[in-house]
Amino acid sequence: MLDTILQIFEKNIGAFVSGEDLSKQLGCSRTAVWKGIRSLRAQGYVFEASSRKGYRLVQVPAKLDIPTLLGKLETESMGRSIHYYDEVDSTQTIAKQKVAEGAPEGTIVIAESQTAGRGRMGRKWYSPKGKGIWMSVVLKPQIPIHFAPQLTLLTAVALCRTIRRECKVDIGIKWPNDLLINGKKVCGILLESSAEDERIKHVICGVGISANLGEEDYPPELLDIATSLAIASGEQVYRETLIASFLQELEQLYKLYHQEGFATIRALWEALSVTLHRPIQIHTPRDGIVEGIASGIDESGGLRIVSSTGEQLCIFSGDVELYGKKDDTLTQS
Ligand code: BTN
Repeated sequence: MLDTILQIFEKNIGAFVSGEDLSKQLGCSRTAVWKGIRSLRAQGYVFEASSRKGYRLVQVPAKLDIPTLLGKLETESMGRSIHYYDEVDSTQTIAKQKVAEGAPEGTIVIAESQTAGRGRMGRKWYSPKGKGIWMSVVLKPQIPIHFAPQLTLLTAVALCRTIRRECKVDIGIKWPNDLLINGKKVCGILLESSAEDERIKHVICGVGISANLGEEDYPPELLDIATSLAIASGEQVYRETLIASFLQELEQLYKLYHQEGFATIRALWEALSVTLHRPIQIHTPRDGIVEGIASGIDESGGLRIVSSTGEQLCIFSGDVELYGKKDDTLTQS
C-alpha cells in the first residue's frame, strides 16, 4: 500500500493529489489513506496537506530504501548485489575491497555520505549526507586497458540519458566526465581500473550525482560552479528511482558496447556533448593550456582538437573550459 501511494506521488511530482483520488486509486477508505500518509511521514517523507487540495509530497527521506530500490530494479547484473552504508571514506575504496573479496560484476556500493569522496586529478568530491547518490559500480570488461576511458564516456551517456528521461532537465556532457546543467556541474564520474598484462581485471566506476542538495547545502566556493538536480528541476529526486533507471541504462549500453564496439557509444556521446564544435580551452597535465575547437572523440575516448594554430591534436587528460557558443569560431569568442 505504501509503495502504491509513493508511485502515485511519483507520477504527480510537485502536484497535490486529493484524498478522494488516492482512496479511489488505492481502492481503500479515506481513513486508510490518512494512515498510509502517516506511516510515510514516520519514515521521513514530508507532505503538505490542504483540506481542499489534498496532499503534496515536498520532501523524500534522507535515507535510501534498499528494498524499494531492489523492487524497482529490472537489470540482470547491475545492482544485483548492493552494499549500502551510512558513511564511508569513499565508495571507491569499499568497492575495491569488495572486488578483492570476490564481488561479481554489477556489484554496487552506495553510501549516504563520504568523508573522503574523491574526484579526478586528486580532487575532493563533496558528498553531504542523504543529499546525493554516491555510488561505485564494479565492472569486469574484457577489453585492453587503453580502452578504459571509453567506459567513462559510456557511463556519462548512461547518466545523461537517465537524467534527461527522469528529471526532464537540459543536461549535457562536458568531456570527459562532467555532466552540466546551465554550465554548472551536477554529476561527476571517476573510473579507477586495475590491469594485468594490458588487460583489465576490473574497473570501479564511481558516480557522484548531486541530487537533492539545496543552495544552503553548498559551501560558498562551489555555489557558482555546481548545482543539483533538485535546484535545476525544482523537484525532489526519488533516488531509488533514479538509481534503478541509471543501472538499467548502464546495463543496456554496456551490452551494446560489447556487441557493437565503441562506435555506437561514441555517436551517442557526441550527440549529448556540450564540448564539441565550440571554442574551448583545455588545461592539460602534459601540454599545458591548449586552445581550439573540439571536433570529436577518438577510438580511445580522447578528445580531438583543431588548435588555434590549425594543428590537429588528441587530448587524453585535462580540464575543459567552455567559452563561446556552438559553431562560434575562435576569433569570435
Ligand atoms: C569528478 O568529477 O572528478 C569525479 C567525481 C566522482 C565522485 C564519485 S562519488 C562516488 C565515488 N566515490 C568517490 O570517492 N568518488 C566517486
